[in-house]
Amino acid sequence: MSVRPALFGAIPGRRVPVFVDDGLLDRLPDVLASVHAHRVCEVVTDRNVDALLGRRVMAALRKGKWRAHKTVLPAGEQIKSARTIRSLHEAWFEQKLDRYTVIVVVGGGTVGDAVGYAAATFLRGLPLWQVPTTIIGQVDSAIGGKVGINHKRGKNLIGAFYQPAGIIIDPQVLESLPPRERRSGLGEVVKYGVIADAGLFRQCERSVNEWISGAESVPTSTLQRCARIKLKMVAADETDRGLRHHLNFGHTLGHALERWGGYRRFKHGEAVAMGMVAAAWMAYKRGDLTESEFKRLEEVCRSLYPRLSTLPDRNSDVTQHLHSDKKRMAGTLRWVLPHGLGRVRVVEDVTPREINGALRYALTLSRR
Ligand code: GLY
Repeated sequence: MSVRPALFGAIPGRRVPVFVDDGLLDRLPDVLASVHAHRVCEVVTDRNVDALLGRRVMAALRKGKWRAHKTVLPAGEQIKSARTIRSLHEAWFEQKLDRYTVIVVVGGGTVGDAVGYAAATFLRGLPLWQVPTTIIGQVDSAIGGKVGINHKRGKNLIGAFYQPAGIIIDPQVLESLPPRERRSGLGEVVKYGVIADAGLFRQCERSVNEWISGAESVPTSTLQRCARIKLKMVAADETDRGLRHHLNFGHTLGHALERWGGYRRFKHGEAVAMGMVAAAWMAYKRGDLTESEFKRLEEVCRSLYPRLSTLPDRNSDVTQHLHSDKKRMAGTLRWVLPHGLGRVRVVEDVTPREINGALRYALTLSRR
């Protein structure tokens, strides 16, 4: 059966095929065989995803005459560690993997990041396929080549830009996502609307509540629209020195909130939703968003807010966590602010007063 990529990422010197279709998981052997002649692969996933999809993936590969072995990691952020990388490498040496063995990582952003980093560094790089199973994975983290692990000094501090050999997006697998995970993923979808696509933002306004409740699935064309935006930005700025910063809309404060909550309280997209409201408030006060645009953005983000009983009491609880991002970026804190809906700009002159006002607004909204 022939399969064709829906999209291509154009990284200097190479193209990354992105396959998008319902049921692609069962056609994995054909997709992989469209790129690789040597039918040997190592599937890596985590316990949660394995329970849902592991058997199906392995059955499809074996039926397609692939020699496939599977490794199942524990689920959770703790796998983004040097220990996981060491144990994967050790196992791969034992199994005598060579540079033609294809690594297929099936799961969300956490497993994608860790296994991607293990693949990037084993024998100086094995061919890697990202098969994301969450909305965040399908529209963001599996695309663009950022792989890595955490360090005791912070998240994602050890890593690389390592473009996958290909990406497989099967929207059908999202059907089993819990509602909170869906809501979190939609934070990234809304983000793409605000930063680059006013039509997508309007679609989010119409449908976000149905997507969250599961009454409607996120259309494949919408996932593809997001993936296309990401691929375009990565093609223009693979190593995150300019345009790619736009993807950080809502993330400056979002990361600080996640840190405040010890990465347990908030789901990533929930913190980003609050961060988007804060950034929009700053843009509104600066005259870069009209009141009606600001209110529209607030309305969509509010649907994505976490349903938490405990939020930070004081601004300073959160603002102290802004500083680890600052350390990474030559001492400057960058904010991505909307400039109308569908466009953003990066600013470095945000004052502590603006930060306080924006944070107060974003936190108060969750109590209304
Ligand atoms: N998730 C932001 C980026 O890939 O640059």
